[in-house]
Amino acid sequence: MKEIVCKKDELQPGQTMRAKMGPFPIIVCRTPDGEYHAFNNKCAHQGAPMSEGVMCGASVPTDTPGEYDYQKEGEILRCPWHGMEYDIKNEGRMLADPEQKLKEFNVSFEDDDVVVSL
Ligand code: FES
Repeated sequence: MKEIVCKKDELQPGQTMRAKMGPFPIIVCRTPDGEYHAFNNKCAHQGAPMSEGVMCGASVPTDTPGEYDYQKEGEILRCPWHGMEYDIKNEGRMLADPEQKLKEFNVSFEDDDVVVSL
């Protein structure tokens, strides 16, 4: 199953959009470096629509206890309901529990079209 979800230039770096792949609601994300990623539009916690969340960065621990660096700007998807954060470029894995993740779909291109498939 595959679906054309948009034209390449309809989604700018740092933006997300809702779409459908067959019967599945999905979210398509474009990270600041221009990569496209697509996930099931449903949080692994309690099912919130991830498309109502935000793309942001995350606080990552340093070697010094109690100190954090803010990294991965635009590569984290934060759920709108309870704030769980997912790493877009790491298979949609939840930062707090990497065993949980958003279901990821394949993204490819046909001319100017962005195509999502199972
Ligand atoms: S539904 Fe997403 S964090 Fe709870």
